Amino acid sequence: MRMYDIIKHKRDGLELTPQEINHFVAGYAGGSIPDYQASALAMAIFLRGMNARETANLTMEMAVSGDTVDLSSIPGTKVDKHSTGGVGDKTTLAVVPLVASLGVPVPKMSGRGLGHTGGTLDKLESIPGYSVQQERARFLEIARTVGCAVVGQTADLVPADKKLYALRDVTATVDCIPLIASSIMSKKIAAGADAILLDVKCGSGAFMKTTELAIELAQAMVDIGEHVERQTVALITDMDQPLGHAVGNSLEVMEACDVLKGSAPSDIAETCVELAANMLVLADKGSLDECRRMVRAQIANGAGLAKLCEMVEAQGGDAAVLHDYALFAQPKVVHEVRATRAGWVCHMDAERVGVAACELGAGRERIEDAIDPSAGIVLARKTGDWVERGDVLATLCTSDSSLIYDGERILRSAYELGDEQPRPVPHFLARVSAQGVERLA
Ligand code: URA
Repeated sequence: MRMYDIIKHKRDGLELTPQEINHFVAGYAGGSIPDYQASALAMAIFLRGMNARETANLTMEMAVSGDTVDLSSIPGTKVDKHSTGGVGDKTTLAVVPLVASLGVPVPKMSGRGLGHTGGTLDKLESIPGYSVQQERARFLEIARTVGCAVVGQTADLVPADKKLYALRDVTATVDCIPLIASSIMSKKIAAGADAILLDVKCGSGAFMKTTELAIELAQAMVDIGEHVERQTVALITDMDQPLGHAVGNSLEVMEACDVLKGSAPSDIAETCVELAANMLVLADKGSLDECRRMVRAQIANGAGLAKLCEMVEAQGGDAAVLHDYALFAQPKVVHEVRATRAGWVCHMDAERVGVAACELGAGRERIEDAIDPSAGIVLARKTGDWVERGDVLATLCTSDSSLIYDGERILRSAYELGDEQPRPVPHFLARVSAQGVERLA
């Protein structure tokens, strides 16, 4: 089999056979297929697309290109969750312990933040002592005994995706639905869960800018799940403005704890309830309504927070910070940004808020950059709020006062104030499952 013919078949719009896809993935990951041929194929896929069968085959070939996780020593249906990435998205920190507190194991591998979106590992590492690097046996033991664990992906998880993603990044082939879907699902499948809940973000702070594109991506991933017998459901949620009020690592851990204490803003609180309830449905714990009620009860009775503390301690962290936020490392500089006019916040650019938080030290440009765990932004006003001139729009936190000027400039550009009250933005846009697309807004 020649790579030349595989490229030609896709260029001419033919369906790639399982053997062709295997030849490409094994050859590219193994180093016998050069970048220039892989680039040509990625571009042919970008232009010609792939059907559900090809996408599932590509996913499975990538999933087994390296290390895979065997979760069979943990009893019960293991459910994983994945967010396509957004600003202020701290849902994993609340949803994982909530679901585990109801007896559904969540052994989870997460990633670091890059660019304007934060990463779960960086957030967890703002808890003193918390270690995201656990030996495989210890990871499984924590997941078995506590019910949940959140660790970093091992270096050898889905090496084919790592190589292909880096290539797509420099060949204008990232924003291609079959390639995104197979990239995400290959990592979820290699991580071993029986069922997968996807939170596909949609809006100015997300990869997918429109509901239609988000649904298309969700459908591609749900189809892959069907093909490989991992039950998969996707919620399409709004990311036109940041989720909740906190953006930045320790700030987001505090807000996730507020979700578990029942004192968080309603958008983040409701999103966590909905995600957790859908994960419970995937584990056959009841109807969606029953599962929502169960999740709310675990917030009210403190069981979700207790489970988070248990997980943090099992991974070496100091759970006292989750009760007393003053024990987190504190920012050296706290600066209020005030409105220069009165008006309605009629639009926010979530990506700009993420970029401003990065500028303050909360994120990184390159994977090797250090981050400031205390840096970030607390939004006092969001879309739909009225502000008087001089009211605080947001508070900036950083350890480096020289970063405030640019942080404020970028944050101001994220706010659009106007005279017309905007229409409320629906938070849940659609639910996609093997049964079809249910539009929620
Ligand atoms: N996230 C991934 O893991 N892969 C993509 O291709 C895009 C987003």
